[in-house]
Amino acid sequence: MQTFLVTGGCGFIGTHLVASLLADGHGVAVLDDLSTGRREALDPRAALVAGDVASPPDIAAAIAAAGADRLAGIFHLAAIASVPRCLADPARSRAVNADGTRNVLAAACRPGERSVPVVFASSAAVYGDAGTAPARESRPPAPISPYGADKLSGEHHAASAARRGGGRATALRFFNVYGPGQDPSSPYSGVISIFADRLRAGRAVPLHGDGGQQRDFVYVADVVAHLRAAMARAAATPRAGFDVFNVCTGRAVTLAGLLAALARVLGRSPSVEPLPPRPGDIRVSIGDPAAAAEALGLRAATQLTDGLARLLAPGALSAK
Ligand code: NAD
Ligand code: UD1
Repeated sequence: MQTFLVTGGCGFIGTHLVASLLADGHGVAVLDDLSTGRREALDPRAALVAGDVASPPDIAAAIAAAGADRLAGIFHLAAIASVPRCLADPARSRAVNADGTRNVLAAACRPGERSVPVVFASSAAVYGDAGTAPARESRPPAPISPYGADKLSGEHHAASAARRGGGRATALRFFNVYGPGQDPSSPYSGVISIFADRLRAGRAVPLHGDGGQQRDFVYVADVVAHLRAAMARAAATPRAGFDVFNVCTGRAVTLAGLLAALARVLGRSPSVEPLPPRPGDIRVSIGDPAAAAEALGLRAATQLTDGLARLLAPGALSAK
């Protein structure tokens, strides 16, 4: 049994990760400011510290709650996860998504002391609008939103802290994650949860732009498998350093194609509420999963129709 700290552990991906760690008998402490996450979504076996990753004392309190001596690693997921929300408040985006990551890494990688590995959520948004070929990690980043820029800045802070402090940091560039537990009631939520919720209720789906936007949708259980494999790899790698891997399928789906797939699974034809294109929106976002497959030994294998069927199972499509 090991003990881990999960920042953002009350959120969509965080609750799935915490459940997976607890199911394997590990101890878990969570640091979450409950801005989008919900206390009730967290398994009561995990210790919750309500606090902010933008505040170093809150991070220290969470590490103390986990038990500094027995802490095996930090999964850092806390962030403002929405492109429009970060555009609306770029200062807070920077404080949480860039400086928050710097703070977590500063606490984990301490020159001359025991460092703990950090695996953290970066984003496909760092690539920006990079064309139709699947993005490899070597592609020069070109973010087009404060969210993407601050995620990239978080990567740079993590890399510099790991090199300087002798620790190990792994950035996972998640593409578009979907699955049970993503709150469909927020306009800042992921497109799949919003579309599925509206379709199931017989309401029009709010579609920004022409529906030709392409995304690489990755099922949340596959994301959790990548997070855990990256932590296992970091723990088994004694040398300090920084790695970055995409978490994606390599398959592109247009929003129009997504709507058709959802309609098939639900047996309903969709009606659309047309909305203007969203500022800061990427047109095409597809990743190349080869580097993660090679280094971590796994692939995001869940097919979209299977993942949608699980999402649409009774009781699954709601904030947990
Ligand atoms: P989420 O909003 O459901 O979860 C984020 C969690 O972090 C929430 O529980 C929230 O309350 C918490 N949080 C936010 N700001 C905080 C702060 N300042 N201090 C402490 N806690 C804070 O989002 P998610 O979809 O679960 O995303 C998790 C991570 O994955 C984020 O870093 C996000 O940027 C990244 N990511 C998500 C996707 C996706 O498609 N969902 C894709 C790429 C990257
Ligand atoms: C998503 C994630 C972000 C992540 C990125 C990685 C969320 C909320 N955001 O951003 O954390 O870093 O993937 O690739 O999970 N759309 C509509 N109607 C809606 C909502 C969205 O048409 O009601 C469209 C958007 O304009 C966009 C697409 O759907 O073209 C996807 O939007 P969204 O789910 O918000 O995700 P991203 O912005 O790609």
